[in-house]
Amino acid sequence: MQNSYYRVKKMSGINEDFVEKLKYNVNIVDIIADYVPLKKAGNNYKGLCPFHQEKTPSFNVNPDKQFYYCFGCGAGGDVISFLMDLENTTFRETLKLLADHTGMVIPANDNPYYRKQREEKERIFQLNKLSAKFYHYLLINSEVGKEAANYLEKRSFSKEYFQKFKLGYAPNKWQSLAHFLNKRGFSDDELIKAGLVSKGKNDQCYDRFRNRVIFPIFNIRGEVIAFGGRILNDEESAPKYLNSPDTLVYKKGENLYGLNWARDEIRKTSNAVVMEGYTDVLTAHKCGITNAIASLGTAFTNEQARLLKRYASNIYISYDADAAGARATLRGLDILDKEGLNVRVIQLPDNQDPDEFIKRRGKSGFEKLEKEAVNLTEFKINQLAKEYDCNKIDEKINFTNKLLKILSNIKDEVKRDIHLQNAAENYNIESETLKKGIIRYFNSKDSKKKDKNNRYRYTKKDNETNHIENINNIERNFLKLYIDNPGKRTSLRKYLNPVFFTGAYKDLVKIINDNPSLDLDKLLIKIDKVNIKKMLLALSVLDDDIDDKYDEVIEGLLRKTKGSIYKKLQLNQNLDLEEINQILIEFIRLTV
Ligand code: UTP
Ligand code: MN
Repeated sequence: MQNSYYRVKKMSGINEDFVEKLKYNVNIVDIIADYVPLKKAGNNYKGLCPFHQEKTPSFNVNPDKQFYYCFGCGAGGDVISFLMDLENTTFRETLKLLADHTGMVIPANDNPYYRKQREEKERIFQLNKLSAKFYHYLLINSEVGKEAANYLEKRSFSKEYFQKFKLGYAPNKWQSLAHFLNKRGFSDDELIKAGLVSKGKNDQCYDRFRNRVIFPIFNIRGEVIAFGGRILNDEESAPKYLNSPDTLVYKKGENLYGLNWARDEIRKTSNAVVMEGYTDVLTAHKCGITNAIASLGTAFTNEQARLLKRYASNIYISYDADAAGARATLRGLDILDKEGLNVRVIQLPDNQDPDEFIKRRGKSGFEKLEKEAVNLTEFKINQLAKEYDCNKIDEKINFTNKLLKILSNIKDEVKRDIHLQNAAENYNIESETLKKGIIRYFNSKDSKKKDKNNRYRYTKKDNETNHIENINNIERNFLKLYIDNPGKRTSLRKYLNPVFFTGAYKDLVKIINDNPSLDLDKLLIKIDKVNIKKMLLALSVLDDDIDDKYDEVIEGLLRKTKGSIYKKLQLNQNLDLEEINQILIEFIRLTV
């Protein structure tokens, strides 16, 4: 499970003291209890984990440390990461949520680095706004923009829509926008950072977009963050569309074209239609399909899925009806499906894209297709069927085997059975055959697992694993004792030496040694190795009462260390004298 807390923290630009204060002012138990029914269990609160399916609670919230951890799936973190993952909000948005909840106000960060970045972003927004105006002006008012205007009108966008979508035209000159912006006090360097110009060989700057229709790309607040430019003549050898590069305000694959126009409708209906291109979305909106957005030709990303999930629960995929479209659709489906969205695929007639189809058949035609949209599994099976000629016996056998794999992967029994019946009918296969096939598939999977376990049980390696596990319990208990009892740390510190620990615990001990104050909040943010972060989080949330087992724990650690010295000496081969010496020295230091 890779949740927000384990991802590397992005620089949020927000004052850390504020985050600390904010967290101090909320209780993680109250916040989580709004989402997950919690029961007190010992010192912790327990409930069914909201991040994976389970029947017995392994999701723990520790009120003292203000962390949660699921011992089932490994999801864990603080109140901020919990909300980020359940509400699909960014770090900043989550802070806002919590700040509103407590009546606090987020201060602007006056750290010079963030101030500079804020100012640079601000300038890029200004530049984009000015550039969009420049392009738009040329499209509607200038002689040079005539051809572009004609082109758009030929594609059924009238003047009214130039305005609504802020379309534009970039003239066929090397330095048209550049001069315009230079005159308004923007440096070449700023234009480059905004992705509006590129640097040529002799350090000359030239406009990125030339002789292209311009489609500004907006963020959800309606600010221009980037541009797409289309050539006027398909015969040209240049790429059909050219897009802005990534900048401080635009990251490819992190936003959705048209969401600024579609958001309200999507929120109202919970339905969104995802298309591929600029023109698909614009035609859709023009014709009254106002919940259309586009992923802009790239494969759907997790960021886009999360963004979408904030507003929609049902997603209709409407990609071009070609092979590339079908492949993109499958990828998109899986990503959206994983986010828990309800995904259906709209199937357009041969080789059409939504732009063409909607122009021909209008909103009502499209809505009809929407009603006939098929779900993920159906689409996968349909696609599969296209690859085989089921009139030929051997191809039908291959098809059936692949089909069994898709069916076997459906976890929900009812759904599986319905898809099975459906496929049996559609492809003329006995449903009994499919049922038997699925059982066989499951058995073979199980037996593989069994086999592995069996083999495992009798290897020497397993003994070692057990041995390591015992050691790890000793090491774990020691660390738990150390973390939970600030008062005992002074006397425990001398045992907290990396040489007495193994594996990831060794790394953890090093980190704790380097951070003697052991402020868990700060320490967890600092650690960037996920397994160590998880380990520390699990240790701190764990509700094991070992506070009064001080002597036992110390004794265990010493015994273990002694044992490992003996063992190393006995093994005799590959003797790492340096290492043994070190352990011995430290051990003697401890025991005299
Ligand atoms: P399409 O080729 O389907 O574009 O690519 P379209 O919108 O139907 O184009 P028209 O109707 O001929 O104008 C879908 C999307 O992929 C991206 C664009 O975002 C485009 O809208 N794309 C395509 C590029 O970025 N570069 C390209 O060269 C082509
Ligand atoms: Mn297209």
